[in-house]
Amino acid sequence: MAPAAPDARAVLERCRRLVAPALAAAVDRLHPWPAEMAAYSLGWCGMGGAPAAGAPGKGLRPALAVLGAEAAGAPGEAGSAGAVAVELVHTFSLLHDDVMDGDAVRRGRPAVWKAYGTGPAVLAGDALFALAVETLAGAPGARGPAAVGRLAAALTDLVRGQSDDLLFESRPWRGPGAVPPGEYRAMAERKTGSLLGAALALGALLAGAPEGTVAALDRAGRRLGTAFQITDDVLGVWGDPLVTGKPVHADLLRRKKTLPVLAALSTAGDAPGGPAARRLAGLLETPGALGPGGARRAAELAEEAGGRTAALAEARRLAAEAHACLESVPLAPRPLDELRALSALLLDRTA
Ligand code: IPE
Ligand code: IPE
Ligand code: MG
Ligand code: MG
Repeated sequence: MAPAAPDARAVLERCRRLVAPALAAAVDRLHPWPAEMAAYSLGWCGMGGAPAAGAPGKGLRPALAVLGAEAAGAPGEAGSAGAVAVELVHTFSLLHDDVMDGDAVRRGRPAVWKAYGTGPAVLAGDALFALAVETLAGAPGARGPAAVGRLAAALTDLVRGQSDDLLFESRPWRGPGAVPPGEYRAMAERKTGSLLGAALALGALLAGAPEGTVAALDRAGRRLGTAFQITDDVLGVWGDPLVTGKPVHADLLRRKKTLPVLAALSTAGDAPGGPAARRLAGLLETPGALGPGGARRAAELAEEAGGRTAALAEARRLAAEAHACLESVPLAPRPLDELRALSALLLDRTA
């Protein structure tokens, strides 16, 4: 009998447990003030360090680093420094992202900038960033410098992606200057795919895998991360804020150029069957029309115009590409199955 398919949630939980002591020890090295904001953000305490725990994140990136090491034939612990580094970078990027996006709620609680102030949130993000680099530089074995190089490249990409994400807000929805889906994909791969790619690659690199394997895992993670960002954007329009822990329609209100809306609009113009798309474009282009009621209407029209279906199809296509990257190099079978299970969970998620 074939072994049962891995349970992706159990995989995330196993990896979380494996990484938790090293993550706690790293945060403990920070100055107590940013350490408290980091602990708050990670769901370990309430505001002011109160014992009330909050919702932690999914722990996806550290899990990818652990699985990257295991896929390369090493124990998951070999990827531990990489796992800690990518979770610290992720936490840093969320702290700063909520400031950039003006989002007041994260993981069902006030975002760090709302709870502690914008200056302190920026500082805590900086502290986490520095700690991530320090953690990786101190990784056991000879591969610390190569690992830091890979993380730095991912960070450069992440910042480029965030730059485009913000600049796209002031681009028009259609016509000259509109954001084509290809530019959206490049932006999403940079802001999100780069870190998922780095997570998988760092796990394998620290485990001593050959460069070809590390590069294939990086490519797989980038594709998976782009798919992940698309599902995040779908949840940003049609998700339940009580489940996602994040505001709904915030992207629409900020004129973020997300794939579900861009895909819905691409049936506008003269295309047959595009009345919903044309009404959507009209609504998005009417100055002042996008209050909360207008955003609800825009979400309905984007659905009617096929934006959700098209975006999710694109996410599935990218996940299939990720799987092909994984299959292009020799990997240990069990972690490979776990990676496939994780990718299925990420596409079919509500939070
Ligand atoms: C949110 O990432 C930011 C994106 C890149 C879409 P996650 O959805 O992994 O956030 P948490 O850590 O689970 O809260
Ligand atoms: C995700 O940004 C990428 C980074 C944080 C670098 P988003 O703005 O799309 O993610 P959410 O929806 O706020 O989590
Ligand atoms: Mg955001
Ligand atoms: Mg953002």
